[in-house]
Amino acid sequence: MKTVTLYNKTFGLYLSAEQIQQAVDEVAAKLNRDYVDKQPLIISILNGSFIFTADLMRRLDFTCYLSFMKLASYRGLESSGQLKMLVGLNENVKGRDVIIVEDIVDSGLTMQHIVEQVNALEPASIRIVTFIHKPEATKVDIKLDYIGIEVPNDFIVGYGLDYDGLGRQYSDIYKLVTD
Ligand code: IMP
Ligand code: MG
Repeated sequence: MKTVTLYNKTFGLYLSAEQIQQAVDEVAAKLNRDYVDKQPLIISILNGSFIFTADLMRRLDFTCYLSFMKLASYRGLESSGQLKMLVGLNENVKGRDVIIVEDIVDSGLTMQHIVEQVNALEPASIRIVTFIHKPEATKVDIKLDYIGIEVPNDFIVGYGLDYDGLGRQYSDIYKLVTD
């Protein structure tokens, strides 16, 4: 099995670049169907979703704006549940169609927090896109409008996802090997 080592942990190949790109195609096709004649504002959540956002946007047929938000919660392998806003929105959101783009929804706390912040700015609509969803881990009641791939509750890296800052650059996704 193809593996990568980050710090002292080993991760094994879990989703190939080909599977990933196919899932991106499918999400893009749904957005292209739903946003014809619209000009939404995409809010990409840093850092993790930068690769997915770049792949996704290049497949969109409609014109759209892009902005970024950054929050921090994760320390190592487990979420601390504490969220800190590091980069806020300086875009005017009122009355606009917003698409939030995330790399992964785990407990859902980060996404819940983001939706609250964006909702307070009175957009015309909000839809959520997440590339990865861990349904077994999600604790909050939140509607994910577009999901790339659902995975079990394992820790993964690659395609933007990191383990303590490392591993974002891989085109494949790797899963923590537990012994
Ligand atoms: P949530 O608030 O628990 O949904 O966590 C969301 C954030 O945790 C994501 O934006 C990621 O940064 C991080 N995260 C959750 N699961 C993983 C994982 O398996 N690998 C890497 N980062 C993860
Ligand atoms: Mg992260």
